[in-house]
Amino acid sequence: MEDRPITTQGLKDTHTQSDADASVLQIWGKHPLKGHVNISGAKNSALTIIAASLLCPQDCRIRNVPNLVDVKRMEQILAALGVKIEHHGNVLDINASTISHSKAPYEIVSQLRASFFIIGPLLARLGVARIPLPGGCTIGARPVDLHVRGLQAMGADVQIEHGIVHAYVTGGQRKLRGAKIYLDYPSVGATETIMMAATLAEGETTIENAAQEPEVVDLANFCQALGARIRGAGTNTITIAGVPSLHSTDYAINPDRIEAGTFLVAGAITHSEISLSPVVPEHLTAVIAKLQATGAQIITESSDCLRILPGDTIKATDIETLPYPGFPTDMQAQFMALLTLSEGNSLITETVFENRMRHVAELNRMGADIRIKGNHALVRGVSMLSGAPVVATDLRASAALVLAGLAAEGKTIIQCLHHLDRGYEHIEAKLLALGAKLERIPAVGDISGVCLTNDPVLSEKD
Ligand code: EPU
Repeated sequence: MEDRPITTQGLKDTHTQSDADASVLQIWGKHPLKGHVNISGAKNSALTIIAASLLCPQDCRIRNVPNLVDVKRMEQILAALGVKIEHHGNVLDINASTISHSKAPYEIVSQLRASFFIIGPLLARLGVARIPLPGGCTIGARPVDLHVRGLQAMGADVQIEHGIVHAYVTGGQRKLRGAKIYLDYPSVGATETIMMAATLAEGETTIENAAQEPEVVDLANFCQALGARIRGAGTNTITIAGVPSLHSTDYAINPDRIEAGTFLVAGAITHSEISLSPVVPEHLTAVIAKLQATGAQIITESSDCLRILPGDTIKATDIETLPYPGFPTDMQAQFMALLTLSEGNSLITETVFENRMRHVAELNRMGADIRIKGNHALVRGVSMLSGAPVVATDLRASAALVLAGLAAEGKTIIQCLHHLDRGYEHIEAKLLALGAKLERIPAVGDISGVCLTNDPVLSEKD
């Protein structure tokens, strides 16, 4: 049965940042897991597909939308622009016929970096967009220069004044124009921004050295369902032939490959057999290869169901994060947790973000032996981890601490849960159903200062 519709304006987050940070997650480790996990819709697809719904002046129904704090923030941004948006369970109904503002509210953009991605659709629809710069975040500086250069190549005038990106399309028709764009780096966000902007542009746009991530393909499929003409999504050259307008659609988002990968690691680190669906196994090729290198077996039970058979021991292996189809940066922290318990030494190299190893200090608090040098982490396997109070420093770091807690002797207490709540739908319920012992409880005393001290930009917006 579907939940009662709630309009986003009146929406109260189930876990606000301050609620989440006033709680801690206690995990009693060493309990074997068993059973099946249902994988939610992909967060990073949902965020851009919600932004892309701004391109369409008719009803859009988006299914398989995970209930996450980040998704709610994106809904709030659309609502602030005057868009009608209703959320029923995992279904979102959006009608952007009534956009009344072209300026995104700073308070929300500053909390959610992905909200910058509305710049492309707003420019395409209205010929004007004003978006506060998202700024740096806990995993790196994360500039938006590639997004901006792409839009400029399509005829947008982009100025940055007082921290706000003012973009408008020059020329009488206020229409973006197709262009040949080469990305210096295959940025996921820049590929998505340019692809969305190009759907309604005059003429053809080509993106060379485009990102090939499954979330880019999910977005392209959504835009095609709206009537856009896109070829090559999933390869390094994407061609978009602009169309005059887009129409209504009903679209289901892909399963979340990072959530699936995180649960596969949960099986490996606790030496448990678990299965998961729905998944798209091809999206997990690099993750499956690395799990096999650690000694686990991954069985394809059906076209959308995987089962992990853990090895007796965890073997060491080296990992280097890369753009898709390389090993995903969003799985680096979780694999680091796994490799802390391996037999031998592993070298982990992070090439995508410059500050994505803040979980190392917390894993070391639990007895891991990890040293960082530049963007490399040398993980020397230890025979056991021991539960400890630890602080989540970003979304995937928080997942790594949950995994380490499941495998550690004794009790782990994870603080700053707002990071975890940004990206994992119902994670506690899913782990409890597998037999894990964990509980979210109010923190003793005021720990909000821990999360603020821990986070120099006072917010996190992966
Ligand atoms: N970059 C630039 N200039 C730009 C854009 C990116 O220098 O204009 C750099 C970034 O600073 C970074 C690298 O390029 O060092 C990769 O960034 P990319 O644009 O590919 O990432 P993103 O679009 O900002 C998305 C996901 C991230 C995921 C990365 C890489 C969303 C909302 N976020 O970010 O997800 O890590 O792609 O796959 O889609 C997460 O879910 O935990 C998360 C951080």
